[in-house]
Amino acid sequence: STATSTNITWHAGDVSRNERAQLLKQKGLTIWFTGLSASGKSTVASALEQHLLHKGINAYRLDGDNIRFGLNKNLGFSPEDRTENIRRISEVSKLFADSSTIAITSFISPYRSDRDSARKLHQDAGIPFVEVFADVPVSVAEERDPKGLYKKARAGEIKEFTGISAPYEAPESPEIHIRTDQKSIAEAVEQIFAYLVANQLI
Ligand code: PPS
Repeated sequence: STATSTNITWHAGDVSRNERAQLLKQKGLTIWFTGLSASGKSTVASALEQHLLHKGINAYRLDGDNIRFGLNKNLGFSPEDRTENIRRISEVSKLFADSSTIAITSFISPYRSDRDSARKLHQDAGIPFVEVFADVPVSVAEERDPKGLYKKARAGEIKEFTGISAPYEAPESPEIHIRTDQKSIAEAVEQIFAYLVANQLI
């Protein structure tokens, strides 16, 4: 009909994920950090991103700076908002991974069910998902307190602060478990890199 003939579009044909990976010589995946505030997750995630890029592997980090200031700036720290935060981040990381990039997320992601949903989203799409637990005792994170947030939380100036007045549900079987207070940043990066190589993910 005339109605549709005015709306014709040239269709180039889809590039499958495998074909894209072959052309770019790189497979995508999501590396999902989880841990308390001041657990070192962003520091290790950032060092990992640099390490991969220096090896010529495209990696892109999603964290508070580019997500809570932009895409998720309408979200706070209630349980509902955290769940929505993580849901959106899961979808975005999946898109990056689908584009043959290594997506590295570093968010507290305190709820096991939210992280499991992120994992399932990737699994259902056939995209590898590697959970990295940046593990430190609350006492160590509180001692570090680089932003003074634990102090404010103890004083009641911040409500629902993870580890103090809001829950953190530690992963039970993360692919990678790092005691960030017992390892250097370089050692943590090496541990993750070795895992990726051993599992033929890079
Ligand atoms: S979550 O739980 O995954 O949605 O949190 P996330 O997006 O990673 O944001 C955590 C950073 O926000 C700051 N902040 C708080 N964290 C925890 N609880 C409360 N109530 C809170 N309010 C602000 C804090 O600086 C976190 O930064 P990181 O990098 O984790 O230290």
